[in-house]
Amino acid sequence: MAIYVNKENADEVSALIEKIDIYGPVPANETERQYYYMAKVRRHVEALTKELGRKPGCCVVTFGCQMNARDSEKLVGILQLVGYDIVETEQTDFVIYNTCTVRDNANQRVYGRLGELKRYKRQNPQMKIALCGCMMQEPAVIEKLQKSYRFVNLIFGTHNIFKFPELLNSMFENNGGMTIDIWKDTDQIVEDLPVERKYPFKSGINIMFGCNNFCTYCIVPYVRGRERSRRPEDIIAEIEALVADGVVEIMLLGQNVNSYGKNLEHPVTFAQLLERVEQIEGLKRIRFMTSHPKDLSDELIDLMAKSKKICRHLHLPLQSGSTRILKAMNRVYTKESYLELAAKIREKIPDMAISTDIIVGFPGETFEDILETIDVVEKVQYDNAFTFIYSRRTGTPAASMAGQVPDDVVKKHFDLVLQKVQEVSRERIRQYEGQTVEVLVEEKNGQDERLMTGRMSNNTLVHFPGTEDLIGKLVMVRLVRCLGFYYMGEQVAKENG
Ligand code: SAH
Ligand code: SF4
Ligand code: F3S
Repeated sequence: MAIYVNKENADEVSALIEKIDIYGPVPANETERQYYYMAKVRRHVEALTKELGRKPGCCVVTFGCQMNARDSEKLVGILQLVGYDIVETEQTDFVIYNTCTVRDNANQRVYGRLGELKRYKRQNPQMKIALCGCMMQEPAVIEKLQKSYRFVNLIFGTHNIFKFPELLNSMFENNGGMTIDIWKDTDQIVEDLPVERKYPFKSGINIMFGCNNFCTYCIVPYVRGRERSRRPEDIIAEIEALVADGVVEIMLLGQNVNSYGKNLEHPVTFAQLLERVEQIEGLKRIRFMTSHPKDLSDELIDLMAKSKKICRHLHLPLQSGSTRILKAMNRVYTKESYLELAAKIREKIPDMAISTDIIVGFPGETFEDILETIDVVEKVQYDNAFTFIYSRRTGTPAASMAGQVPDDVVKKHFDLVLQKVQEVSRERIRQYEGQTVEVLVEEKNGQDERLMTGRMSNNTLVHFPGTEDLIGKLVMVRLVRCLGFYYMGEQVAKENG
């Protein structure tokens, strides 16, 4: 279970770390070992604080998916405990990029911003820069960084992120040099390390790591390693602690949650895990991400149908509507089996929003294949869909397939799919106009101070006049007007629990 660090217990946890004897032997237990290094790093940060005459700042920038966002919370939890001030600006003493490499544009953004950081570092030579996350698991990236980005101080990957305190210590003891530690894989899951939460009322929780599916376009299995599930006891204990700390909504995270538990000593299905999570008193909403269509069981559909807490939103990535392309992608389902599955869900749970991911421009994809994809979009009536242009990832099977599609053709196909997706989801989202629904209030509206922004169970955003004290609460809101992909509403009752 993770140790959540918040305003109330930060001093207490810090005091415990302060007591660790850093001159004693390095503990053998991995968790204790990392706390030992936190104690050592604290001394380095204290020295830096004296030198600067203020607490040093640290900015963690996250690229990519929810999994990375969660990892960043782990980094921030540790950084706070060792004495950094967490800041938003990259013009500070320590900047960490937690990178993504799922598509090439994610990589390019990192290189672009590193150029900026180099300028900042010239003005502030004691500044430190660290890179971690999925991109670092690619040998070609490391080579490039070693050659042309010597100003980076620390580089580590996804498998050894639990060693962050130890790595920070090496960075401090390596006097401005470049510290690199990348592992090829790991079977370890280290529990009980500190975590910070971005939101007090909602949280992501890893239930599994890695992926075994090897979709032929995808780099994730290479950079996140093999599938491994956390034990249900650890997950439940963590959620209970979160709920006790004010969390009402959780999102269970994994690349393919439907295959959760298969490799545990005592195998458990994802539906069984959900049933146990549902029992946790005080927890109001359960979300999960991502469901692979090939493993979505009837057991899970029935459970979702009767659940009071599982949100009315299912992300069911299609990738392509063409059976031929799906086969080349190694997705293990066909257009027909996907449509059947979606129809079953629509029938058993009519208010379930279904969202999806679509890739346009996979090698060998023709106009006919795109028409198949558009046909699925029309038939399923997605509530939301993320459309991506295929990105060739070195080392994946698709990268060396014949028939790479020219950019101008991809662009034309992409626009066709996007147009259809928007047309369909606009209609789907509108259907709730006039109804009164429960909304979890998340934040003050960025554009208009008088408005609060909340989320419906089906993931649609609602803006309504309200005050900040509503943040983190479930309220009933009447959906007055649908404006494209969100609603304007008005609160109709006081808090709803
Ligand atoms: N595990 C999840 C997806 C994780 S990656 C799943 O299987 O659904 C998130 C999305 O990125 C994928 O659903 C896919 O649509 C997209 N994606 C992955 N690799 C890609 C690539 N090489 N080019 C373009 N999009 C890609
Ligand atoms: Fe990538 Fe496929 Fe695994 Fe999703 S299931 S992470 S798309 S390999
Ligand atoms: Fe990107 Fe890694 Fe997530 S490649 S999408 S951050 S698992």
